[in-house]
Amino acid sequence: MRKTLSIIIVFCLFTMVLVSCRKTNTNNNTNNTSSLVSENNTKLEETDKPIYNKNDILVVFFSATGTTKGVAQKIADITGADLKEIVPEIAYTSADLNYGNSESRATKEQNTQSARPKMKENISIEGYKTIYLGYPIWWGQAPRIMSTFVENSDFTGVTVIPFCTSGSSDIGQSDDKLAEQANGGEWVQGKRFSSNASVEQIQEWINEMNNQYTKKQMILKINNTEVPVTWESNNSVNALAELVSSKEMVINMSMYGGFEQVGSLGADLPRNDKQTTTNYGDIVLYSGNQIVIFYGSNSWSYTRLGHINLSEQEMTDLLSNGNVSINLKISQ
Ligand SMILES: Cc1cc2nc3c(=O)[nH]c(=O)nc-3n(C[C@H](O)[C@H](O)[C@H](O)COP(=O)(O)O)c2cc1C
Repeated sequence: MRKTLSIIIVFCLFTMVLVSCRKTNTNNNTNNTSSLVSENNTKLEETDKPIYNKNDILVVFFSATGTTKGVAQKIADITGADLKEIVPEIAYTSADLNYGNSESRATKEQNTQSARPKMKENISIEGYKTIYLGYPIWWGQAPRIMSTFVENSDFTGVTVIPFCTSGSSDIGQSDDKLAEQANGGEWVQGKRFSSNASVEQIQEWINEMNNQYTKKQMILKINNTEVPVTWESNNSVNALAELVSSKEMVINMSMYGGFEQVGSLGADLPRNDKQTTTNYGDIVLYSGNQIVIFYGSNSWSYTRLGHINLSEQEMTDLLSNGNVSINLKISQ
């Protein structure tokens, strides 16, 4: 009996140890997950804010089943823009959205050019200079409620960047049609995303948009020659832009290692260091407070700041003939 009792006690103790071990593992996992999540969140919050004009950017979207909303939220996170949703006065039920039924509300609306479903509330776009405008593709077009919105908004002086989500169709003429219906605005070529568009894909597109369409740009001159730069969208570049926004910055660079020129920024920028193999034309942040421009290659933990769009020969000619000075300023 005693023996049985002690076996039971040992078994219980063993089980308790096992359970507590498991719990620790689970906790560890949970911690890992949440730290991953928060790392990602932080990454989004800290890394991917806009370069300039962040207060002037708005993301407006309509989304019936949440896909476009997801992309819109990512764009707003990356750009730091405000986010506004076009909400229909009468919500779409799943029966309304049944595109297999020629009598469903959505199908009938799309078949009626003049249909203008009402919005629950008007959306003000006053004060915004750049608007990302998102919608799902319905029968190859923008849902008619998008026409309601664009016809009731004044886009004068606004750069409109359309985007859409769809099962498979491209954006087609849907963005052009909205541009035709809208009052003013500089409408640029829109972009279609799939339902599983990654933050990286969206970020890459926003970088393109920033470089093509934002009014202000950070200008880099090497020995007084302006060079064409594609800047990254991250908080290091934002901080650099802010640093030079009040006053043009002149940095005396030094040739180093036969592949780069390096100079002190005189200030610490937020770091997003990653093991990086650089190439000619790359601009990186080293050690948080030095800017490095490459005419060759190196592998180190850097934060990418941008890339100069010149050939290897042009970069070599610019940087390999002795120390240079660079100027950074924001264009007006
Ligand atoms: C009425 C209707 C029509 C649609 N027509 C198309 C289409 O022509 N081509 C396509 O690729 N997807 C089409 N879709 C799929 C949606 O574009 C796709 O699911 C979209 O990502 C949904 O976005 P949302 O969740 O933001 O509403 C249609 C969906 C609905 C409800």
